[in-house]
Amino acid sequence: MFGRWLILAAAGSGARSGEAVNKAFAPLGDTCPALMCLEAFAPFVDGAVVAIGADDARLWESIKDRLPGSLPAAMVQGGATRQASVSLALERLPQDASLVAVHDAARPFVSPRLIARCFEEAGRSGCAVPAISVADTTLSVDVSGRVDPLRREDLRAVQTPQVFRRDWLAKAHKTAMDASATDDASLVRAAGFPVSIVDGDASNRKLTTPADFRLARLEMESVRMPRVGFGLDAHRLTSDRPLILCGVNVPHTMGLLGHSDADVAAHALIDALLGAAALGDIGGWFPDTDEAYRGISSMLLLKRVAGDLKERGWAIGSVDVTIVAQRPKLAGYIPQMRQSLAETLGISADRASVKATTTERMGYEGREEGITARAVAVIYGGTTA
Ligand code: CTP
Ligand code: MG
Repeated sequence: MFGRWLILAAAGSGARSGEAVNKAFAPLGDTCPALMCLEAFAPFVDGAVVAIGADDARLWESIKDRLPGSLPAAMVQGGATRQASVSLALERLPQDASLVAVHDAARPFVSPRLIARCFEEAGRSGCAVPAISVADTTLSVDVSGRVDPLRREDLRAVQTPQVFRRDWLAKAHKTAMDASATDDASLVRAAGFPVSIVDGDASNRKLTTPADFRLARLEMESVRMPRVGFGLDAHRLTSDRPLILCGVNVPHTMGLLGHSDADVAAHALIDALLGAAALGDIGGWFPDTDEAYRGISSMLLLKRVAGDLKERGWAIGSVDVTIVAQRPKLAGYIPQMRQSLAETLGISADRASVKATTTERMGYEGREEGITARAVAVIYGGTTA
């Protein structure tokens, strides 16, 4: 198995962007490019090293608490050029990092599909560089104004993430002759290693100018419209089963009856997520007639659904679960449940809410015959095929 790590280059100043702060941290809706990148990579990597400018430590602090719960992320002070920033971050990678994705924080619309494609190719060939063909007619114009047409068919616009074997990337940076390379593929190529091109993604553009930011904000508001899903589930209480809610084993005299581990809260949430993407329901995905799911941890099913949504380009905005149970008292277990959901979904705990209530002894929950859970989920950014 490869240890997969991310180096996020965020140590520039974004001088061309016209933003009041380094563009990697400039507000986009309720988030910012650096945070969007870290959220996109979280399901794919074991950790991240983020290169930050000397004056931007405060900006890093402002997003630190919102990082996906499952992602170890360290900050390193960047250098005067992008190349220097990546070199400094490389030195901070742990021993077991063997595949490294280098990504520009200025490309917040990177899709899970593209990240997966790059890691897959680099796992095979040692290096993957996404590139797209050029739509406009292209010319080279020298300092004297002499114009020469270029063969558009031969040209590619190069993007990030660029994924490399760690030893190749380290060697390329160590032996680099040209201190001003604007990407890592050129260094790896110059060091004599083969560079594999994979299909890039036109929406994975680099935010550079004020116009880029205007468009990005419009897109966040309109195209990336959030979708909402609702889920409901109920299970019967019985005396001979453990009580598992949001993956947390809650000590009680009774537990829930079901084909899987009967984690009613996870089931409601799975239905909310599937509902948000209009992808059917838990019964269709994981039939309770299938022996494969007997006794299975519902958190595994939740993880599978979250992974599938991500592959379809959906990001999870937030989830909120309400558990209706007369007993036991759940308040003490809520933080653990939120953490468990956050880790499984690859989001930060402040986006994963769990609440509990009783029905004042009314109805089946009140008589302690069963427990109900209701959940809502907000997702955005994807397409429903
Ligand atoms: N970058 C970096 N360290 C530097 C310079 C750039 O980590 N010394 C990062 C930027 O933060 C950005 C990426 O490299 O995410 C791509 O560079 P670019 O688009 O040029 O960003 P900036 O240098 O920040 O912008 P500008 O050139 O407009 O100042
Ligand atoms: Mg720059």
